[in-house]
Amino acid sequence: MQAASRSLRTTCRRTIPSLAPASRHNHTQPPIASQPQPSSTDSTSSGTTHFGFRTVPAESKETLVRGVFDAVAPNYDLMNDAMSMGVHRLWKDDLIKLLRPGSKGPVRCMDVAGGTGDIALRMLDWARENYADRETSVEVVDINGEMLKEGHKRFKKTMYHNTPQISFHEANAQALGEDRFPSNSYDLYTIAFGIRNVTSIPEVLKEAHRVLKPGGTFACLEFNKVTNPVLAPLYEQYSFSVIPLLGTILAGDRESYQYLVESIRRFPSQRDFAQMISDAGFATGGFFEGNGGAWRDLWGGIACIHTGVKV
Ligand SMILES: C[S@@+](CC[C@H](N)C(=O)[O-])C[C@H]1O[C@@H](n2cnc3c(N)ncnc32)[C@H](O)[C@@H]1O
Repeated sequence: MQAASRSLRTTCRRTIPSLAPASRHNHTQPPIASQPQPSSTDSTSSGTTHFGFRTVPAESKETLVRGVFDAVAPNYDLMNDAMSMGVHRLWKDDLIKLLRPGSKGPVRCMDVAGGTGDIALRMLDWARENYADRETSVEVVDINGEMLKEGHKRFKKTMYHNTPQISFHEANAQALGEDRFPSNSYDLYTIAFGIRNVTSIPEVLKEAHRVLKPGGTFACLEFNKVTNPVLAPLYEQYSFSVIPLLGTILAGDRESYQYLVESIRRFPSQRDFAQMISDAGFATGGFFEGNGGAWRDLWGGIACIHTGVKV
């Protein structure tokens, strides 16, 4: 069995140089295996959707989003720090503290739109540091091979490299595929700063619901609507003038960063997104912010964590 999986890894490495070990749960799949992509889902009745502030044919959005992340992948972590002045790290830490992976024993997690593996690394570190848990595992799933390559490079420097705790998978959040990601299999599904980029949010939520075990948790960290009236205009100004400028200076790419800002504005409000999570079959808190509510605002709503439990 060991020899077989070693030979699978070797074969895969030959075709895709930056491969990580296959997940113990998914030995028939190469570690970063590309999946035939389904056609994009039309998110409106007219066959169009939004790409930032532009209206585009629904079927072209995936290609456009892929282009953005191909362009930003090598600078993604640097730009994330620069754009948020490091604050994205605090928000990601907030997400992990809320979820406490490993607190009830090892968990099987899927981090979708996981990009360079920021969330996965935090989950594994949290479980190990707090509960001496070396069995919790995270499958990082992303539509973009370039982002996954950056993630794989990063994990090579960690103790998780070449262990069953981490694996990388190229797949579309809207159609993960029963064969690769079986139904009722995961304890925790996370998606951070990813869902606003997809063509159809309901399809992503439907897939999240499918793969989670009954009682499993869905958690989404995303930019949202700023509710604080003092912060809102300052944030608006910062987003539309500073972020594209930083994109130009640090990455030589204004357009991709302009898209990132615009996509934040197009994302549904906290309440509307909570409704979508509930419509997908998750039990959420009440449709309000805070304890007992469906979401928690971070920094006045600049970012927000929504959770739901599969019932
Ligand atoms: C802003 S990055 C977030 C990366 C990481 N979660 C983080 O917080 O640093 C958004 C990611 O979503 C991915 N993505 C966009 N559309 C996707 C889709 N339909 N399915 C899976 N991943 C997708 C992109 O490739 C990109 O890596």
